[in-house]
Amino acid sequence: MSVPAAKSGGLGGGQARHVAIIMDGNGRWAKKRHVPRALGHQKGVEAVRALVHGAAGLGIEVLTLYAFSTENWQRPEDEISDLTRLMKRFILSDLDEMADNNIRLKIIGDYSAFTPDLVELIERALERTKANTGSTIAVALNYGSMDEIARAARLAAAKGAITPETIAANLDTADLPPLDLLIRTSGEERLSNFLLWQAAYAELWFTEVLWPDFTADHLKQALDAFAIRERHYGGR
Ligand code: FPP
Repeated sequence: MSVPAAKSGGLGGGQARHVAIIMDGNGRWAKKRHVPRALGHQKGVEAVRALVHGAAGLGIEVLTLYAFSTENWQRPEDEISDLTRLMKRFILSDLDEMADNNIRLKIIGDYSAFTPDLVELIERALERTKANTGSTIAVALNYGSMDEIARAARLAAAKGAITPETIAANLDTADLPPLDLLIRTSGEERLSNFLLWQAAYAELWFTEVLWPDFTADHLKQALDAFAIRERHYGGR
């Protein structure tokens, strides 16, 4: 993944190729409705499902979703198992349709830390969709950007020089286009150890909308805002 060359004067961002989302606010969505947190996560998965459909016409090549961070293991065990169960159900219910729609599934992060049944389902989904040539849905699972950069630096060192290019070439996202737009829902405005390297020149877009309420219309709003942002990559 390289940093694109600077565009000269006054051009907007145009079409975003790679969009990433920090899907935040499931817990607050549930709290506002006095329902269990698990229901917030369940609605969060439904929002993922609707967005994967809704994003189809928006010209995005890669949608990267922060589903489970290296820090999320600190959550209570029952919440971790709710999230794991929801991910299993999502693969079981949606894999056929993703495969039929020529979507490639990719995982960033070390998913081998999950239960063997989830690991097996993930591997089946990766195998089933690996030759697909349409859009890519990259799901971040047991992902932390600092961990990813450290792993990439170790790999780069083992092969020779450590440079920005050799680190980028060993990141989990090495085969993806540069990150254009990073969205975070729920009003929080921080990166939370997500795509720190990749976000060096990404545009950031924050919304108060809680993740379960996020729709393709919100994504369209973000893309419209991106389209008119001027990007200089440190140039002029
Ligand atoms: C943040 O809300 C959300 C998460 C930690 C989990 C996000 C995961 C999903 C939406 C499911 C992903 C599933 C698939 C299939 C990709 P929070 O619990 O931190 O909310 P809060 O900050 O309001 O408490």
